Amino acid sequence: MDLLERSSALDELGGLLAAAAAGGRVVLVAGEAGIGKSALVRGFAERHAADVRFLAGGCDPLLTPRALGPLHYIARQTGGRLAELLASGEPREAVFAAFLDELVQSPRRQVVVVEDAHWADEATLDLLVFLERRLERTRALLIVTYRDDELGADHPLRGVLGVLPHGVVHRVRLRPLSGAAVAQLAQRAGRAAAGLRALTGGNPLLVTEVLAAGAFELAVRAGHPWFAGELASWLWRAGALPEVPAVAAEPYRLLLAGDWQAAASAWQALGCPYEQAQALAHGDTEACLQALRLLDGLGATQTAQRLRRQLRARGSLSIPRGPIRATAANPAGLTGRQLEVLRLLAAGQSNAEIAARLSLSVKTVDHHVSALLAKLAVGSRRQAAAAARRLGIALPRNGEPGDPS
Ligand SMILES: Nc1ncnc2c1ncn2[C@@H]1O[C@H](COP(=O)(O)OP(=O)(O)OP(=O)(O)O)[C@@H](O)[C@H]1O
Ligand SMILES: [Mg+2]
Repeated sequence: MDLLERSSALDELGGLLAAAAAGGRVVLVAGEAGIGKSALVRGFAERHAADVRFLAGGCDPLLTPRALGPLHYIARQTGGRLAELLASGEPREAVFAAFLDELVQSPRRQVVVVEDAHWADEATLDLLVFLERRLERTRALLIVTYRDDELGADHPLRGVLGVLPHGVVHRVRLRPLSGAAVAQLAQRAGRAAAGLRALTGGNPLLVTEVLAAGAFELAVRAGHPWFAGELASWLWRAGALPEVPAVAAEPYRLLLAGDWQAAASAWQALGCPYEQAQALAHGDTEACLQALRLLDGLGATQTAQRLRRQLRARGSLSIPRGPIRATAANPAGLTGRQLEVLRLLAAGQSNAEIAARLSLSVKTVDHHVSALLAKLAVGSRRQAAAAARRLGIALPRNGEPGDPS
């Protein structure tokens, strides 16, 4: 994922990792919920995936959290003596010492991440104190994330932070996103940015939620089956769909219920090969190969490439190569019908006008419009028109309905 306005924080972490080669360091990453602490750590881990061993564990928001919760997660990654001692319920001191050994002895550079320390159980707080005092013996960077706005005056984490040795500890405080970054996120989601910075205070979680849920909820409230279905399926892929909306059009509902076969047949009956292919892509290898044939036929090169990559990752052999680019139907992989609809839409016609012009039902036009918005990866008719112009897709000639001249 593309992190905005975090390059200096990432560089700072990189500098501390380099400094840790001469003796371990601690860095505290603090900020309110959703400000991007975990995203920063993920981005850092991605940057250094090749040359650094990341051991990460989080604290859970339980009323009675499991003792040493994060260390249990870490021990699953290390295995060995640490895991054995933890599993057999050895005294804390022995477990801590085993963890320190693990850090001292590893030949690789290491980053230990303890996430959400505001929820840490007492034993984990003890572990932090233990580690911080001995970290200089290792070459590890310890990253502790926490919500600083949830630490009341008597929060036990305060006590731990208060006794940290100077010189070993650094703080990274994440700032809200600027108006420009919020506008960039809105643009990526194909939505207007007006008022969004003020509404969300630049908190990336709130920004992404407003952008994602806003459109979806509007579509559900307006009872729009195709938009609601389309957006629901995006949220579903992102793991963020609370429930399948009853209003969603049937092929989407079938897919969200896990019946990709029935969904593909429904799309086929509607004459929508692109969506049929997308449904098939959720199926077995045979279905995926059928999806590839459809996508190649449509010239939907990017989607086809993505599917080829997925198939390769699954270990499928003999994946047919796609057609060479010149044979692709058009740059965005639109069907002939969708091209016609796009030309008229770009000329400013409403769905009802397009339906009358092409002798289709308004519902069918609605569907073509939502499909072409998805293929063009845009969120509005205005952006679709702009994309059509960019792609050189012809607009209606003079004298045709909708021609403004
Ligand atoms: N710099 C950024 N640019 C774009 N998106 C971001 C950025 N930082 C975070 N996000 C997105 O915002 C959401 C919240 O981020 P994240 O989960 O990292 O917050 P957090 O500070 O760890 O919150 P919590 O305290 O609840 O754990 C995620 O969807 C993440 O992808
Ligand atoms: Mg987090």
